[in-house]
Amino acid sequence: MSGKSFHVQPGGALTGEVRVPGDKSISHRAIMFAALARGTSRISGFLESADCLATLNAFGAMGLTHGMQQDARVIEGLGMHGLHAPEAALDLGNSGTSMRLLSGIMAGQAFDSVLAGDASLSRRPMKRVIDPLREMGARIEGRDGGRAPLSISGGAALAGIDYTPPVASAQIKSCVLLAGLYANGTTRVREPGVSRDHTERMLGAFGVELERDRDSVALRGGQWLTATDVAVPADLSSAAFFMVGATIAPNSDITLRGVGINATRRGVIDILRAMGADITLIDERDQAGEPAADIRVRSAALHGIEIGAAEVELAIDECPAIFIAAACARGTTRVTGAAELRVKECDRIAVMAEGLARLGVECSEVEDGLTIVGRPGATSFSGGGIASHEDHRIAMSFAMAALRAAAPIVIDDCDYVDTSFPGFVDLAASAGLAIESRTDE
Ligand code: S3P
Repeated sequence: MSGKSFHVQPGGALTGEVRVPGDKSISHRAIMFAALARGTSRISGFLESADCLATLNAFGAMGLTHGMQQDARVIEGLGMHGLHAPEAALDLGNSGTSMRLLSGIMAGQAFDSVLAGDASLSRRPMKRVIDPLREMGARIEGRDGGRAPLSISGGAALAGIDYTPPVASAQIKSCVLLAGLYANGTTRVREPGVSRDHTERMLGAFGVELERDRDSVALRGGQWLTATDVAVPADLSSAAFFMVGATIAPNSDITLRGVGINATRRGVIDILRAMGADITLIDERDQAGEPAADIRVRSAALHGIEIGAAEVELAIDECPAIFIAAACARGTTRVTGAAELRVKECDRIAVMAEGLARLGVECSEVEDGLTIVGRPGATSFSGGGIASHEDHRIAMSFAMAALRAAAPIVIDDCDYVDTSFPGFVDLAASAGLAIESRTDE
């Protein structure tokens, strides 16, 4: 996948009302849990992106039947033991969530499986799921000890564990809990920090009993999931690009409809507010077990702040967009405790530093973060060419930078935007970003 580039003209403002697509994390889980449940589940607001379709197709290769009913995905659950052996390796493309959560599910199956991904996913660390799964009794091998493809042998007897992951990660936590459903006894995960709790919420909605306290979650093995309908809220991680864009572009006033604002990952709202952003949450409500709201964002002058590990944890996927905001702020923004950014779809600290420097922003990398010297003023960025390193969030963050640039910004390898945000170009253009997607020869 490569060939599409974004050409973004400088200036403009973001206005109007938009609804960004469904939440990626919740969409993955909805497919997985509906597939393992007994009965029929309807998933509305499902994110029809490459990553979530990779999850859907993986279950399709294991016998799942699904269809569409008035824009909702209808899933005929197979039950905890109803998956069939796939004929080939399951191709999970670019999707870390698919691979890490599925590894927990596959560890509990009677048949062998192989989980594979693209070049980027094959570079990402998988030892973090291999280690706890082995501790539970799973037979799982990775390339070079810890990379995809992962080979999982079926028929292993799993036993519950009490596990503290080395980093706060919803993917590790979810992997262990899902394997725990197939294990004897109780599985407990103790979190070294906060990670998103969509798995806990949604397993509860599918009828699984969980025991939760402040920093641990546990479940008994052998429980069944019962089909339910899921209404997926709009993805805060996708909304974040518009929140930053509207904040930095003068005369902006945009309302983002029906966005998930789960407390375990709404850090971008709090961080931008601490920098001076004008963000109003309207009509806060519960949407099928997840808090959601409309988010109104108006232009504001920002100032630099210190952002540490506790804040980063709640905004890990939004950091690239936050770095763009920091580049427009008065003063310096220092981000630390963000080492996990180095093992996302690309090394997001190095790649953001490279792109910001290319656009004339002074910044310096440390092992676990980035210091950015803001350039408040009519233009904060020069124009220029940006390498997205095949990372969707890098591409969309720099697209928004054009709102405060002196000249056009051109971003390469933007096909990967479809992994999380199909329709980004049209939606951003409808809100006022002068963006065009070109397919290179
Ligand atoms: C996700 C968890 C986070 C996040 C990723 C989605 C999830 O990763 O960065 O985009 O859906 O569980 P980690 O669990 O590695 O922090």
